[in-house]
Amino acid sequence: MKASTVISGRFDTKNSQSIETYRKDGGYETWSTVLDEKRDPDSLIDEVKASGLRGRGGAGFSTGMKWSFVPKQTDKPKYLCVNGDESEPGTFKDRQILEFDPHQLLEGVALTCYAVQAHTAYIYLRCEFKLGIATVKAAIKEAYEAGMFGKDIHGSGFDLDVSVTIGAGAYICGEETSLLNSIEGVRPYPRNKPPFPAVEGLFGCPTVINNVETIANIPHIIKNGAEWHTKLGCPEDPGSRLWGISGHVAKPRWVELETGYKLQDLIDGPCGGIRKGHTLKAIIPGGSSSKVLLPDQVARVTMDTPGIRAEGSSLGSAAIIVLDDSVCMVDAVLNLMKFYAHESCGQCTPCREGTPWVVQVLQRIHSGKGRTVDMDLLLDIAHNMEGRTVCALADGACWPLTSIVKKFRHEFEAKIVAAPSATSSKVASA
Ligand SMILES: Cc1cc2nc3c(=O)[nH]c(=O)nc-3n(C[C@H](O)[C@H](O)[C@H](O)COP(=O)(O)O)c2cc1C
Ligand code: SF4
Repeated sequence: MKASTVISGRFDTKNSQSIETYRKDGGYETWSTVLDEKRDPDSLIDEVKASGLRGRGGAGFSTGMKWSFVPKQTDKPKYLCVNGDESEPGTFKDRQILEFDPHQLLEGVALTCYAVQAHTAYIYLRCEFKLGIATVKAAIKEAYEAGMFGKDIHGSGFDLDVSVTIGAGAYICGEETSLLNSIEGVRPYPRNKPPFPAVEGLFGCPTVINNVETIANIPHIIKNGAEWHTKLGCPEDPGSRLWGISGHVAKPRWVELETGYKLQDLIDGPCGGIRKGHTLKAIIPGGSSSKVLLPDQVARVTMDTPGIRAEGSSLGSAAIIVLDDSVCMVDAVLNLMKFYAHESCGQCTPCREGTPWVVQVLQRIHSGKGRTVDMDLLLDIAHNMEGRTVCALADGACWPLTSIVKKFRHEFEAKIVAAPSATSSKVASA
């Protein structure tokens, strides 16, 4: 397990948020050099592609590849939207960057815009991030005053405007096309894809959407080169990530580590083990939308894309939720499904109808009125939701649901067997 300071290195610096300390630490040198040397924008895209950086927002798509889809020959303006909605349950990494090193993000914004030749960037932040919003806004003001943003930056002829847009606190607005609609001021329904935002995004124009942590990596990659990045952590999924560990460990926390470490080492080491008097029951490893891991899987899994895929789950937003033996898994999944049912935007029938139906069935089991057919009913509803909707919220609800029903069937059975109605055929099929 390799601790890292690529992203978090300045978090403990006094006044780390100010442009003065950022520049003292070498900040904005990369941006200035790119402009002064009139670097070929494509060379930045190639560098990021070769670095192997995958998006940190959840889907883990190649960042350089995404940028390369933005058309070069177009009369339309191009945009960058930075996703700082951080809405996935269990996730608390982007807020560290927003609150403690906003200029790292802003330098990344400038370099990304230059690479894809966008002249306008929107940083989308959830309204609950009061401190993060104030910190980023103050940093943007400083960057303008220091001539890092604005018109004809460094006499290069390159113009860049950056602003903050504040979301109203809906989970769905973290979905990239819903986020675009939110910025446009229309109802934030996710859009059908294709067309993908790189071709037809904000206001119908080519748009790159990247997570806050993804963009914070860019200054380091452009400064140190792709090869430097490929040597961090797992070669097939290189880099350093901010991991957020919550739940039943002795020391819940965030920590920056290179990819490729063993999850068990993180739990036993920096997290101080499972809380006293308890044992591990399960871990949801990548935010609430990922499939649950059992203790034997936790003991062998490495935290990188190939490692976690081998165990049938995903790294998602690197939010590791630890559940000990005090947890009733029926209760846990009911709690999660209430969230998805509440946050469904209602646009697609399988998600709008399926998520509350799942809640109803789980409530029935949880309250001791379940039937033996209910476990299969849950899997059947999930089967009819997964892959059949406009956005991945429904998939994200199905993954924890199906994995928990399959892996903890005995806990569901125990509640159902005890139920008086378990074998009754007269129960309404809610
Ligand atoms: C329901 C839903 C919520 C999402 N919430 C977030 C979020 O809060 N932050 C985020 O960066 N990505 C979120 N995503 C993923 C985005 O759609 C998108 O993949 C991401 O912002 C792309 O950035 P990246 O390539 O840098 O990861 C969400 C996706 C879904 C389906
Ligand atoms: S899957 Fe759910 S949240 Fe996504 S568009 Fe359809 S109804 Fe809305």
